[in-house]
Amino acid sequence: MSDAVPTPFSGPPPTSGEEEAPLYVRIAGDYAERIREGALSPGDALPPERKIAEIYGVSRVTVRRALEQLVLEGLIEQRQGSGTYVSQRLQQPLSVLTSFTEDVRARGMTPNSQFLDRAIGIATPEEAIGLGLKPGQGVSRIARLRSADGIPLAIETAAVVLDALPDPTVVTDSLYDVLSSRGMRPVRAIQRLSAVALDKRNAELLDVPPGSPGLYMVRVGYDAGDRPIEYTRSFYRGDRWDFITELA
Ligand code: GLP
Repeated sequence: MSDAVPTPFSGPPPTSGEEEAPLYVRIAGDYAERIREGALSPGDALPPERKIAEIYGVSRVTVRRALEQLVLEGLIEQRQGSGTYVSQRLQQPLSVLTSFTEDVRARGMTPNSQFLDRAIGIATPEEAIGLGLKPGQGVSRIARLRSADGIPLAIETAAVVLDALPDPTVVTDSLYDVLSSRGMRPVRAIQRLSAVALDKRNAELLDVPPGSPGLYMVRVGYDAGDRPIEYTRSFYRGDRWDFITELA
């Protein structure tokens, strides 16, 4: 277990004139920062309520509210009779166009990819429809098993139009970083998310039993001129992801 005891109120001091946040918000903020910085890793135990109350010099009721807040944010999990742990689930916001790399780093974890395919090929009928291509046109195709801190989390197959990505082998880490450097990162996307049971091959790659719950996502990403440039199919492990939607 890494050092689970934060320096109390290590966050920035409130600027003058600004009201101080309630104590529970500041305690929750301290832990959230530790988790996002990677000082606390997924699966690490938090100290017992009594101990946290002691460290901060607050009541257990205040600590309980702070922990409730962290549970709501998906950062910790409370297990009956066992304690409180940093959540092993990752979050993908559905209202912002983030990349896998960004979602993993936001949790203080290190992304990694194993390439299953990285070549130019003829667009499949599904990819051609998604990208508005004519039958027989080529795409850069990148299939990857994607992990965070060595834990396999998703299998993604991206087809990108050739003028956005003429050479798929230049992608070694983040596809969106490469597209950004070419001024071609999608600026908006449409996604479809469905529940699936992972088949034998996908389950094996993701290191879960066949038939385990998964999420299947199709993303079509558009460039600034509203042309579809990315068509990606992803299988996510159901036990490791929360997809967060903001409602207004
Ligand atoms: C997410 C999306 C994919 C996108 C990928 C890019 O996982 N579902 O559609 O291609 O991010 O991630 P990265 O830039 O880390 O390769």
